[in-house]
Amino acid sequence: MEKVAEGKTKIIYSMPDLEKVTLKFKDDITAFDGKKHDLIKDKGVINAAITTKLFRYLEKEGVSTHLVDLPQPGVMVARNLKMIPLEVVCRNIAAGHILERLPGFKKGDSFPKPIVEFFLKNDSLHDPILNDDHIQVLALANKREIAEMKRLALKTNEFLKPYLLKKEMILADFKLEFGRDSKGKIIVGDELDCDSMRLWDIKTGEILDKDVYRQGAPLEKVTETYLKCYRKIVGGEPK
Ligand SMILES: Nc1ncnc2c1ncn2[C@@H]1O[C@H](COP(=O)(O)OP(=O)(O)OP(=O)(O)O)[C@@H](O)[C@H]1O
Ligand SMILES: [Mg+2]
Repeated sequence: MEKVAEGKTKIIYSMPDLEKVTLKFKDDITAFDGKKHDLIKDKGVINAAITTKLFRYLEKEGVSTHLVDLPQPGVMVARNLKMIPLEVVCRNIAAGHILERLPGFKKGDSFPKPIVEFFLKNDSLHDPILNDDHIQVLALANKREIAEMKRLALKTNEFLKPYLLKKEMILADFKLEFGRDSKGKIIVGDELDCDSMRLWDIKTGEILDKDVYRQGAPLEKVTETYLKCYRKIVGGEPK
């Protein structure tokens, strides 16, 4: 298999079937546009398993994802998509940098309705927020595709929130990345895991995601957080 791309947390390999790619989830963890960087034992295995579990669930609920299979721990086979360089964020509860942009809401406040936001994937510009016009002017997606990404983000939220609540976790917010398949259909790609969701323990309020790393917790604590998230969503211990 030939390596076709490498990002901060995944390596993409081509496959004999050009409609598919292999995604190797790495143990690297990064924050602040990659300025903070460490390795967390088994993080790749944990995030690949959580993504697989949640994507399978979403498929059943009618949201198309790129997931094909998880042939071995940390290694996912996915549909080869032309990725759209946007981060699509859906927020239920105020947390993170929206607190600096939206007056009247403090950390932990629920929004009266879910908020969907688009950001440009561009570390050197610090992932600026974009509106529909910006996205069209940059020719990243057309009006119909923007509406479709928003619809899929809200549908994902609608299914994910109660699913995680049953596992005693509150979904404060999450990020999706989308791509186009060979027919131009908009599909959920990338990942959905401890790196891309804000999850809080419903009983204790404990943070169960990458925010523990952003906040400077010792790496043993970060490892324990990822393990807790795995146990709650996938069950058992990572193999
Ligand atoms: N199904 C897919 N087909 C093709 N590429 C994909 C697919 N799913 C994810 N990717 C891309 O794989 C790349 C590597 O992922 P990773 O998360 O490591 O990148 P990143 O560091 O977040 O961002 P960057 O895109 O800036 O490298 C990303 O560009 C992502 O968009
Ligand atoms: Mg990424």
